Amino acid sequence: MDIGENGAEFVVVANRLPVDLERLPDGTERWKHSPGGLVSALEPFLRSHSGAWVGWPGVSDADVSPFEDDGLLLHPVPLSAKEVEDYYEGFSNGTLWPLYHDVVAQPAFHRHWWNSYRQVNQRFADATAKIAAQGATVWVQDYQLQLVPAMLREQRPDLKIGFFLHIPFPPVELFMQLPWRTEIIRGLLGADLVGFHRPGGAQNFLWLARRLVGLEPSRGTVGVRTRPGVVQVGDRTVRVGAFPISIDSAGLDAVARRKETQARARQIREDLGNPKRILLGVDRLDYTKGIDVRIRALYELIADGRVDPEDVAMVQLATPSRERVDHYKTMRKDIEQSVGRINGEFGRVGKPVVHYLHQSVNREELVAFMSAADVMVVTPVRDGMNLVCKEYVACRYDLGGALVLSEFAGAAAELTSAFLVNPHDLDGVKNALQAALDIDPAEGRRRMRALRRQVLTHDVDRWARSFLEALGTQTSV
Ligand code: ADP
Ligand code: G6P
Repeated sequence: MDIGENGAEFVVVANRLPVDLERLPDGTERWKHSPGGLVSALEPFLRSHSGAWVGWPGVSDADVSPFEDDGLLLHPVPLSAKEVEDYYEGFSNGTLWPLYHDVVAQPAFHRHWWNSYRQVNQRFADATAKIAAQGATVWVQDYQLQLVPAMLREQRPDLKIGFFLHIPFPPVELFMQLPWRTEIIRGLLGADLVGFHRPGGAQNFLWLARRLVGLEPSRGTVGVRTRPGVVQVGDRTVRVGAFPISIDSAGLDAVARRKETQARARQIREDLGNPKRILLGVDRLDYTKGIDVRIRALYELIADGRVDPEDVAMVQLATPSRERVDHYKTMRKDIEQSVGRINGEFGRVGKPVVHYLHQSVNREELVAFMSAADVMVVTPVRDGMNLVCKEYVACRYDLGGALVLSEFAGAAAELTSAFLVNPHDLDGVKNALQAALDIDPAEGRRRMRALRRQVLTHDVDRWARSFLEALGTQTSV
């Protein structure tokens, strides 16, 4: 795939560019890595194939010209401060995010948010239409841009358009709450291939295409990577499938094996006071991630006398996220209070139980934390896939460590040798945490070997190839 003189042959369109512009207090600006799983997954794939990436640079009113970054052409789409409020914080993260995550927080429905969403989607479609070569492949990403496929097709019927949703697609009863439900389904139907993590999402979408748009979708069951559903839209056939996303497994495995990484992991253990067991959580600070669940479970295990606070240290790395959205403000307060409570009651000077860092760390540091952790705790109440759990498995070439994973993460369907938990069942989470803390090393190795077999053979390259092949695009460079 090449960037020809007449435009780009392969274009990714996502709300964010892979790099985020940061404005420092002294007025200077610098680029940093963008947060979240979408960028973590797509960036390694895109960097190993050439192409263009259309996206927002992460701050309002940024006037940035297109630029090349390590072989990738980045095309910034500007958003005004009002659009950040209405399209990004509002409709994307105050309406769609909670609605698509099973309404674990109440979604808000505002017409001015919807209008802004439509306008911004149109801007992304226009920007893409301008740079895509004749007959190019355009791959539109995620819930912020669900209208782009149809808007783009209207201007550029020559393009091959794929769409992938990185978050769960909700049960139809919940989706039907959305006042603009038909417009969203019509927007997605502009693509040639619509992809979800799980077959259930694909199935729900097909049902809605029938119910809301009056189309006649195929009735067979959609399989993972194979047997997509199909729906005829006029003279076009739209395919609908399940493509579970993954990570750069070999890349992480290689970082974990480095001597420096292992030395850093030992240092981390020492800095934590050489506890018998280290528990680790790594998330964006988001209310879907169940960070509160794991802190409460640990609190109760200590209070019940089942875990000795002298034996354990928990590290919670939490990337700041969507900090101006109300649900996020409330959740941050609650989590910081529960960290204060557990440390206040069970910590001592120089030895807190939970080490909470409201920070993002770089890849090498993240791998060192994962290498040091005896128990990785991933307890979302709903997650489209969750990459953190796969990253942990990829780091454990030593077959050490144990994974506690929520059944409500898409990854649970693949990582069946983890300690699977229902995050709403606190006693179940406590039992799983204790079992993971006390695991017999041979049993731990058996489980980790099975997990690694899955993660190392199903990496992000395989995900991207299977999607693009289903779209009918050549993926060889
Ligand atoms: P989401 O996309 O909802 O944030 P995922 O688990 O799919 O959730 O992806 C999160 C990505 O962000 C992973 O690659 C993870 O390693 C990274 N990440 C999350 N928190 C941190 C942190 N505090 N520091 C560094 N990376 C983080
Ligand atoms: C999830 C979403 C992505 C999003 C990321 C970070 O992974 O699926 O689309 O980019 O979270 O969230 P943010 O709002 O900071 O872009």
